[in-house]
This record gives sequence, C-alpha cells and structure tokens, in this order.
Amino acid sequence: MKVLIATEKPFAPVAVEGIKKEVEAAGYELALLEKYTDKAQLLEAVADADAIIIRSDKITAEVFDAAKQLKIVVRAGAGYDNVDLEAATQHGVVVMNTPGQNANAVAELVFGLLVFAVRKFYNGTAGTELMGKRLGILAFGNVGRNVARIAKGFGMEVWAYDAYCPADVIEAAGVKAAKSQNELFEQCDIVSLHIPATAETKQSINRQLVGSMKKGAIVVNTARKEVINEEELIELFNERTDLKYITDIMPDADTKFKEFEGRYFSTPKKMGAQTAEANINAGIAAAKQIVGFFKDGCTKFQVNK
Ligand code: 3PG
Repeated sequence: MKVLIATEKPFAPVAVEGIKKEVEAAGYELALLEKYTDKAQLLEAVADADAIIIRSDKITAEVFDAAKQLKIVVRAGAGYDNVDLEAATQHGVVVMNTPGQNANAVAELVFGLLVFAVRKFYNGTAGTELMGKRLGILAFGNVGRNVARIAKGFGMEVWAYDAYCPADVIEAAGVKAAKSQNELFEQCDIVSLHIPATAETKQSINRQLVGSMKKGAIVVNTARKEVINEEELIELFNERTDLKYITDIMPDADTKFKEFEGRYFSTPKKMGAQTAEANINAGIAAAKQIVGFFKDGCTKFQVNK
C-alpha cells in the first residue's frame, strides 16, 4: 500500500517524520512529492498511490484519471475547495479533511496581521490598539472559535455571525451573535473572514457589505481569496480612503490593491496553517485517517458521497 504526500507547499520536516512513522507502523510505504512546479510531476507521482495526503494542492479530474490505484485523498486541513469532489466520487475515491487541526495556527495569524495593520505596518507613526475594539467573526467554525478566544485576551468586544450556527451556540461561547451578516459588517470595527469558498460565498464580500462598515474599518481575510469581490472592493477603496484590507491569500488583483498604500497588505504565500504544530496535527491526523480507512473502513470526516 503506497501513501503519497503531495504538497506544493511542504509540511515542516518534523511533521513529515510523524506521518512517516504512522504510515510505516501500519506496514505501508510513504512517498514524498514536495515543492513540485509542474502538474506533470503530480500526475506521475499519483500513478501508483493508494492514498494521497495533500494541502491546497489542486486535485482535479485529470489527477483522478491518472491515479489508477487511488482509494482515498485526505486534505490535511480544513478547506477542500481544491478537490473536485464530483470527480472523486465518480472514480470511487473517498475524500476527507482534518477539521480543526490547524485552526489555532490560522487564528493566531489573524492577530499577527491585525497588530501589524493597526500599528500602521510598523512605519513609526502612532497607530491604534485592539483593546476595546469590536471584532466581527464571520463564520463560527473551528478557526472562528479560536479567533474569539484570542480576541478576548486582547480585551476586544467579540461578535460573530454564522448562517449555519444558531445564535444560542455563539452566545454560549461568550460571543455576541449578530442577527445577520449585514449587521456584523455595520456594527464591527474589524471583520475577520472564516467562511469556506462555496458557490454561496464566492464573491460575497462585496461593495455593499464592506461599504456599510464604520470609518477606519478593517477586513482581515485568512479564509479564501474567492470570497472577495475584488473588483467591487477596489472601486470602494478608491472612494473610501479610510478602509483597510489585510489578507493571507494574495488577491488576483494584488497589483491594483498595492496602490492603496498603508491600507493593504498580503502575505506573499498563504501562511495561516504554516506552523510546525499545525503541520504535525493535520499531517498526522491525515495519516491516521488513512490507516483507519484501510484497516477498519472508517469514513469519519468524509466530505464526498
Ligand atoms: C485550510 O483550509 O486548512 C487552510 O487554508 C490551510 O491551507 P494550507 O494547508 O494550504 O496552508
């Protein structure tokens, strides 16, 4: 049985070691494809793999066609918008994610980005503090909950909205539940995005929502670039010179956003889950899920049907 780690953005070496131990303890072989630059390398590597562990790697119908022995793909992480689930199902391949395993790492980065932003990108002039500011968390999943926990340590007033999480669950976590997405944007000084990229959310962070924010508001995005309506945001930022956009996922229109000097920042490569701890948690969880699937038929965390 061959388990392939296919990661264009590699795990920390210590996480690869941990995965190797799990895989070999089960009597399987581990193969490693890291930092690949060409789709052809991926297509070649998957040819004899029974299982693949991936991150944001694009697993398309073409990859499933090339992976003749493949039975399971585990996305070591939360979002699986990079996997063609329909093609997986057609090929009889199980797809799983590892929810929650990298959530703290992403949540910590939100505050790394926010402090950087409110301190004017460390340009030496007086910035502001996070204490006492109202933070709106859009989607109260694993990352959103960790963001709430850390925000309280900063002394922030924490609000959240989640179309799929009831208000009483949000309130039970000591967070004010906004009545709607609109209310969250209207009422908060900062909105942190934690929605997945789905047909429903793509381009949903638009001119109307961000334009309804208070003077000096900040949008921080550690979710997906696809949820932003970039064209509308650029239009709005030309009119509202008080708004800031801070992101861990470089927009397609990065060059245009860069013209908003002092109001825009993007990490060069998505860094949210890029910690040794998150890599170990998500990577080893992925390896264990693969072993559990082959040995016991366990399909917990399956995301396709
Ligand atoms: C996720 O969905 O788990 C995060 O966006 C992390 O993605 P990455 O593994 O590509 O860093």
